Amino acid sequence: MPPSVPRYFALVPAAGAGSRMGANTPKQYLEIAGRPLLYYALRALARETRIERIFVVVATGEVAFAQACVELLRGLEGREVRVLPCGGDTRAASVYNGLSALAGEIAPDDWVLVHDAARPCLTAGALTRLIDRLAEDAAGGLLAIPLADTLKRADSEQRVALTQPRAGLWQAQTPQMFRYATLTEALRRSGFEDVTDEASAVERMGLKPLLVAGEARNLKVTYPEDLELARLILEHEE
Ligand code: CTP
Ligand code: MG
Repeated sequence: MPPSVPRYFALVPAAGAGSRMGANTPKQYLEIAGRPLLYYALRALARETRIERIFVVVATGEVAFAQACVELLRGLEGREVRVLPCGGDTRAASVYNGLSALAGEIAPDDWVLVHDAARPCLTAGALTRLIDRLAEDAAGGLLAIPLADTLKRADSEQRVALTQPRAGLWQAQTPQMFRYATLTEALRRSGFEDVTDEASAVERMGLKPLLVAGEARNLKVTYPEDLELARLILEHEE
C-alpha cells in the first residue's frame, strides 16, 4: 500500500486567563467589531481549505463562550469547529491535552497547526506560505519575523547593561506546524517546563524547526494597547 498523504489539522489553545490584559473576561473573548478575538483566529484557519478540521481547547468553565464563536463561524463561513474542554494550567499543557484527546483521530504523520486564540490578524498569505514551505519538511516549523529593533539588555536599575547583537534573532509567532506524533512526544517529554511555544519543545528533541517569514500584523494580543492595534487592523478590513 502506498503511504497515505498527510492531512492538516488546526488546534487553537484558548484556555488562558489573559492576566496581562487585566480585563474581567479572558482576552480571547474580548470583542472587535462585535466579534470575539477567538472568532477571528478560527476564521483565518477556516478559510484555508487544506485544513480538514479545526479544534479549540478551552477551559471547562468557558465552553459556552467558545461555542458561541463556533456558531458564528458556522453561520458566516460554513465551517465546523470542535470544542475540546480540556484546558491545562499552561499553554503547553492545554495543547498537549488537546492532542491527547484526538489520539486515534489524527495519524502520526498528519500535520497539526497550533495557533494562538489571541492572534486575530493572521493573513491567508502567511498561512499559505507556512503550509507550502513545510509540506515536505521533516522537522516542521513556524511563522516568525526577523528582529528589526536594536536590543538592549537591562541591569537591575533599568539602565542599559549592554547592546545585544540582533543578527540571526527572530520573533516566534503562530501558527507553528509539526507532525502529530512529533509534537505530542515533544510536549510529553518537556513536562511543560519553560515551554512557551511548540517549537521550543520540538527543539529539545534535537530537531531544527524552519523559520518561515511571518508578518508584523500577526501580533499576539497581550496588553490593552495590542487590542487597539488589532482593532485598527481588523476594522480597516471589515
Ligand atoms: N493558553 C491556553 N492555556 C493556558 C494558557 C494560555 O490555552 N493555560 C492560550 C491562550 O488562551 C492564548 C495562547 O495560549 O491563546 C497564548 O498565551 P498567552 O498570550 O500567554 O495568553 P494568556 O496566558 O491567556 O495571557 P497571560 O499570560 O497574560 O495570562
Ligand atoms: Mg500566558
